[in-house]
Amino acid sequence: MKNIRPITDESRPKVYIETYGCQMNVNDSEVILSILQDHGYALTEDISRADVILANTCSIRDNAEQRIWGRIDQFRLQKERRKDVIIGIVGCMAERLKDKLLDSHIVDLVAGPDSYRSLPDMIAAVTPDSPQMNVLLSREETYADITPVRMDRNGVSAYISIMRGCNNVCSYCIVPYTRGVERSRDPRTIVKEAVDLYSNGYKEVNLLGQNVDSYLWKDSESADRDVNFAQLLEMVAKISPDLRVRFSTSHPKDISDEVIYTMAMYDNICRHIHLPVQSGSNAMLEKMRRKYTREWYLERVRKIRSVMPDCGLTTDIIAGFCGETEQDHRDTLSLMEEAAFDAAFMFQYSERPGTLAARNYPDDVPPEVKTARLNEIIALQGRLSRQSNEKDVGKRFKVLVEGVSKKNSGELFGRASNNKVCVFPSGGHETGDYVEVEVVSCTSATLIARLV
Ligand code: 5AD
Ligand code: SF4
Repeated sequence: MKNIRPITDESRPKVYIETYGCQMNVNDSEVILSILQDHGYALTEDISRADVILANTCSIRDNAEQRIWGRIDQFRLQKERRKDVIIGIVGCMAERLKDKLLDSHIVDLVAGPDSYRSLPDMIAAVTPDSPQMNVLLSREETYADITPVRMDRNGVSAYISIMRGCNNVCSYCIVPYTRGVERSRDPRTIVKEAVDLYSNGYKEVNLLGQNVDSYLWKDSESADRDVNFAQLLEMVAKISPDLRVRFSTSHPKDISDEVIYTMAMYDNICRHIHLPVQSGSNAMLEKMRRKYTREWYLERVRKIRSVMPDCGLTTDIIAGFCGETEQDHRDTLSLMEEAAFDAAFMFQYSERPGTLAARNYPDDVPPEVKTARLNEIIALQGRLSRQSNEKDVGKRFKVLVEGVSKKNSGELFGRASNNKVCVFPSGGHETGDYVEVEVVSCTSATLIARLV
């Protein structure tokens, strides 16, 4: 079986990898490390000892990019200390900004999300006078044959990318431009990766895609053997009842009854759906090109809850999109109440150059209004999360232990099937164990429990 752990052999040249952005980027860094280890590199966690420094970057909002520019400026120090250290910017920002990154004279290498196989050759070709760039996007690359080298510390839960790219052109979003068209990965390679993880002691896999509901593997011989997302979920769930399956992200326009019923059929498919709504206003949803309405979204929520009353539901929300009125904002707040989300990621709209929104709609909600609306959304979600957690007090959950609590070394933490984080006394249990707990109290972010 292939090595899935970082090599730390002192005699090898060393690579240091920093990751920004989404879970997909975390998994991409693991793919990058796998490719580099196969070419003789070892991982270092000490930047000052690195021969190659890579930042795997995110472009989703302007503040993500600004943060990375600040970091590139700090890499200058490493270069001053050691002239031959190679600085590489990879991922979404590499794809979006291309040669603008080389103009900084700090960066030696720019590689987009589909060009990681060429990294060893690019690194070998870098000289002070010849920086290297590969930002070609692919219609086929899924890195299906590459076994990611796991950089997580717990050895319990791992990401598996099941597809790459995105074909939805939400008007605010940069992702289709940085990650290219959607392509699904061969399900046999996905199942094999999950089986290998399970035999290496992992207890949970998280299937990742920009829109998992549009996963479709087309069989070359017969359409009867095509595999959709519900079928893939079932294939992974059948590996072992002891291996939990999570997935993200679902798209409200595409999540099917078949997926919901498949979840309900298998205890080891976790009862959690991340279903980004973005806005509760039909006018905004239309302008965002989300291709569903508020009513459609709420119907999907009702369907999920009727089939799985215990299902956790989380979302993403954007405050202050182009032309958003006070009434549009109120619609978002009322939708949040109706859907009663357990948790949410909440953002101010950030215009991304080249997107449909940047080309067609002025970014006209004043910054102070965006901030005020976002704060109102955050405050409401705080209340909803607390209410949702209070309903769980007295209930019992099966929790997968992920590690020792940061606040108290006598306590462990892990998540219940519904994705809520539980903290409880360790009672001799260890990371990777399943334990039964009863919730005794809560905060808006955590369930506090006892062992039963
Ligand atoms: N501005 C603010 N938030 C954005 N997101 C995507 N693009 C933007 C943008 N331009 C948010 C969406 C998405 C999440 C990953 O990031 O809510 O679901
Ligand atoms: Fe992930 Fe999107 Fe950021 Fe790219 S731009 S790293 S796809 S969140």
